[in-house]
Amino acid sequence: MNLADLNKVARAVVAPGKGLLAADESTGTIKKRFDAINVASTEESRRDYREMLFRSSEAMNRYISGVILYDETFWQKAEDGTPLVKLIEQSGAIPGIKVDEGTQALPACPGELVTVGLDKLAERLKKYYEGGARFAKWRAVIDIGPQIPTMTAIRVNAHALARYAALCQAAQIVPIVEPEVLMDGDHDIDRCYEVTQRVLNKTFQELRVQRVALEGMILKPNMAIPGKKSAKQVSAEEIAEKTVRLLKNCVPAAVPGIAFLSGGQSDEEATAHLNAMNRIGGLPWPLTFSYGRALQAAPQKAWAGKAGNVAAGQRAFTHRARMNSLASKGEWQADLEKKAA
Ligand code: 13P
Repeated sequence: MNLADLNKVARAVVAPGKGLLAADESTGTIKKRFDAINVASTEESRRDYREMLFRSSEAMNRYISGVILYDETFWQKAEDGTPLVKLIEQSGAIPGIKVDEGTQALPACPGELVTVGLDKLAERLKKYYEGGARFAKWRAVIDIGPQIPTMTAIRVNAHALARYAALCQAAQIVPIVEPEVLMDGDHDIDRCYEVTQRVLNKTFQELRVQRVALEGMILKPNMAIPGKKSAKQVSAEEIAEKTVRLLKNCVPAAVPGIAFLSGGQSDEEATAHLNAMNRIGGLPWPLTFSYGRALQAAPQKAWAGKAGNVAAGQRAFTHRARMNSLASKGEWQADLEKKAA
């Protein structure tokens, strides 16, 4: 492992004013997104859609540091035969790859999941590196409910995240470590805080046990946020203040950067929350975005599967990328949204 090179890539991922495009939806997930816009999900339509995003030159040049890809996309070619990975590289962004293989039910823990995909991971990482991937992603999923999460679910998922991270670094690939505490329930922000604290503490404990070099990774966490069905919704300032306090308590300063998931927040909420955190300032790490839905909902709607809408889709994507870039510097303002509409 060459730690200096890993650190260089990690710092590039969180370079000032830039963040990640999470375009790594599995075939099942992208079908759900396409169903919502009445587009049939085929190899070709998935390619056309992602090619539209990666050819958004302003967004890709100025606001996007890297793209997380799904295996199918990683090996796909644009309509003119250029590999999509090459398109991303040519835009100045770094190609990355989702390497987990989704979740399975966790035995003896009803309602809980464990992320799988460690078998043969070393071989897969080698192929992805040769194909141009310089970072990877693994997502663990922790749900909040009356009796959950159990410590068992937190431990097995943290263990797998650390196993993945260690294998990535051995393959000279920067691991994005994503322990996602879901915002699906009716819990309040303090319950999310408490669960996320346990999850992050366990994850960093496992990373240390498995000798992962913190300087060569990126953390992709959820924010401290109430469940979508919570009766107690709170201000952007409270989410920002609690998330920053939580991260300061759990994340070592050696980590080069933190890139949040959007997790089901609306486009503007995800931007406003990131912005409010960066307004607080004085943090040991850059805070930026690694958004899937919050960057893509608008371009998906504008595109709607029609070749004639590609320019509109690219405009919508560029707008969201620019808004989140500003938020990563604490320079976003709500009235910038209206001006662009
Ligand atoms: P969302 O921003 O839609 O949560 O997706 C980010 C991601 O990569 C989830 O694994």
